[in-house]
Amino acid sequence: MNDMTTFDVEKVRRDFPIFSREVHGKPLAFLDSGASAQKPTAVLEAVQRAYAETYANVHRGVHYLSQASTDLYEGARETVRAHLNAASIDEIIFTKNATESINLVAYSYGWTNLKPGDEILLSTLEHHSNIVPWQLIAEKTGAVVKAVPIDAHGEFMMEAYHDMLGPKTKIVAVTHISNAIGTITPVKEIISAAHDAGAVVLIDGSQAAPHMKIDVQDLGADFYVFTGHKVFGPTGIGVLYGREELLEAMPPFLGGGDMVGRVTFEKTTYAKGHSKFEAGTPPIVQAIGLATAIDYINDIGFEKIGAHEQALLAYATEQLGQINSLRIIGQARHKAPIISFTLDGVHPHDIGTIVDRGGVAIRVGHHCAQPLMDHFDVPATARASMALYNNRADIDALVESVKSVQEIFG
Ligand code: ALA
Repeated sequence: MNDMTTFDVEKVRRDFPIFSREVHGKPLAFLDSGASAQKPTAVLEAVQRAYAETYANVHRGVHYLSQASTDLYEGARETVRAHLNAASIDEIIFTKNATESINLVAYSYGWTNLKPGDEILLSTLEHHSNIVPWQLIAEKTGAVVKAVPIDAHGEFMMEAYHDMLGPKTKIVAVTHISNAIGTITPVKEIISAAHDAGAVVLIDGSQAAPHMKIDVQDLGADFYVFTGHKVFGPTGIGVLYGREELLEAMPPFLGGGDMVGRVTFEKTTYAKGHSKFEAGTPPIVQAIGLATAIDYINDIGFEKIGAHEQALLAYATEQLGQINSLRIIGQARHKAPIISFTLDGVHPHDIGTIVDRGGVAIRVGHHCAQPLMDHFDVPATARASMALYNNRADIDALVESVKSVQEIFG
């Protein structure tokens, strides 16, 4: 835990054991947190303790350990509720990841409520996980998927969005931050306009959750999803926030143990609240780890994290911008610390492979956002995504290694 009054990145780095290792004999410059973030000791220890000291299944036992494990698991739900400022713990559902959270809403809410000709509005910025589930549901219901365009900088086009909203719009599902190019979308405005048109809104907060405070009531979101592994928690845990009134009216997504009231072969009734959506043994230890990760970031504070990351983003943009043949893809006014780029005449996979030899970890490819790549007319980009533990040395290592790529390719 940190008790810092000012943000000290070197102190933060010491909380993450991975930074004590080298890669290819070089200090690790980990610039791939958009794909998955590193874990602080506090999370590793919480996971170890949950298995070593309190482990048992939840909601099923009268014995001491089952009770202890249930208390920790349900305590994690309360931590997430408070973190998102949700009104009730019944609005917090643990899933396996953000993808499952979106699929849950698409199948349970979408399949029940959509009719032929209804419209689902997405945006060109979306990750495949916020496109494909809607296409699957559109196929089943006869609904139509449409994408709100973005401009040349990668900004969500509000005017076009207003024009596309109408009586046929039933669901709007938009990312809070683009995983591929970092655009922060005006979600509050997006939600309010959708509500004016009578649509419900799902926000994909997978990339926002590590960088900013999220208040679901202030945003007015109907559904908000994020994933644990990108907020310094374990893999295998996702969160779905849903407004209670909507969740209550929705059928279960998955069936099984723990989500039922009474089961007979003739008829089964379902559990109330969040339990209806958590079939089977849930991600117990992962939820405990996620709650610890949330405590960890809140202990530092998003204000400090945001200021540090924005300074780093400005530094990286400026330094990379000095490389002649480098083109930054996506230059929105409000960006998370994510920089996508291409280098003239060099395939992003070659960039990724060569910078890796310098200890620099970036993601290359289409970033599961092929419609966005099509918009910028590139098959792929190289992407540096930063988090609270990155420092200027990481950016310098990236810049040096990108320069060496340029030299190799002449
Ligand atoms: N969605 C993750 C990324 O952007 C995996 O890399």
